[in-house]
Amino acid sequence: MNYDKFLQVFSIGTLCVLFGLMTLGGYVSSTGVGLSCPDWPLCPQGLTPSYEFLIEYIHRTIAATTGLLVFLTMAFVLKGKNSAKTTKIFSIIASATVVGQITLGAIVINEKLHADLVTAHLGLGLVLYSSMIFVVINIFYTNINLKSLKSTTNLSAKDNSNSEISFSSK
Ligand code: HEM
Repeated sequence: MNYDKFLQVFSIGTLCVLFGLMTLGGYVSSTGVGLSCPDWPLCPQGLTPSYEFLIEYIHRTIAATTGLLVFLTMAFVLKGKNSAKTTKIFSIIASATVVGQITLGAIVINEKLHADLVTAHLGLGLVLYSSMIFVVINIFYTNINLKSLKSTTNLSAKDNSNSEISFSSK
């Protein structure tokens, strides 16, 4: 798998994990288990998950994983020599947003699920999700453009060699 294809697969994977995290966040909210784990950053039993705060624990664990994945996506995008400027900008926005979102998650707990903060947590989550969609779409189109550019270059190279053959045979 070449670097551009890897980047495409990696960013789609990150988007899928983020989707799962947001869906789980909705579950945390609707089942009212948001304050089941009152400590931050770890739950009372440290790294060991316990049944009473399992859902909130999973939400936090996936949040940490998502943060890492979003940062890695940004690092890979910035490193890629074919990355478009918009892809770079949106991956930086996504990384900044994920830091804000994780910090806000902690504040939401400290402030005992204040409605304004929970709403902001949902809103920032949507900003993060939209930014990652932009990153994925941009990487996808960059790869399509690269593919068509390569096949056009190959075709014109073939045309040139054909015309050389026909020229030399004359
Ligand atoms: C990338 C990181 C995160 C994303 C994308 C995310 C996303 C979400 C979403 C979409 C919801 C549902 C909101 C609603 O239905 O109104 C939610 C709920 C929640 N999140 Fe997160 N979250 C993240 C990180 C965190 C972290 C680190 C914590 C803190 C420990 C946290 C704590 C909570 C809590 C307590 C709720 C439930 C709020 C309630 O009961 O109404 N989140 N999250």
